[in-house]
Amino acid sequence: MKRIGMMTAVAMGASLFVASQAFAAGDAAQGKTVFTGVCAMCHNDVKGGGAKIGPDLYGVVGRKAGSVAGFAYSPAMKKAGFVWTEEKLAAYIDNPQKVVPGNRMPYAGTQNMQKAENVAAYLATLK
Ligand code: HEC
Repeated sequence: MKRIGMMTAVAMGASLFVASQAFAAGDAAQGKTVFTGVCAMCHNDVKGGGAKIGPDLYGVVGRKAGSVAGFAYSPAMKKAGFVWTEEKLAAYIDNPQKVVPGNRMPYAGTQNMQKAENVAAYLATLK
């Protein structure tokens, strides 16, 4: 019994370690390239840049989802009810409909977690 408990604890520790390692791998420089090519037509990344088709993403890490004053968010995004973290952003960028079902961002996601983590790492530098 005790032995199984130990094994489980070790396995859990290992998977947590792997998860945080994978997450830490986000490369902001590569993310910026993706942002410029894919996101920038709809989103600003400069301070005070304002909305384009999508809300300004400057300072998005630590901001409540759907909270930029004056932007016409979908009801889904308005009531998402969480604060953007780098990890949450990566999941959303990878697959927006999975993280905020019914949101109206006209973009299907990177469908590639590594790419999404890179973009999230870039967004985290915008402060
Ligand atoms: C064709 C335009 C378009 C593209 C391309 C696009 N977005 Fe969006 N994005 C939007 C719109 C519109 C919304 C608002 C969605 C809603 O209200 O449901 C949004 C919302 C968001 C939000 C939520 C912001 C907030 O204030 O809560 C994030 C984060 C985001 N987009 C990131 C990205 C990233 C990163 C990319 C590139 C990988 C991207 N978007 C590509 C239009 C776009």
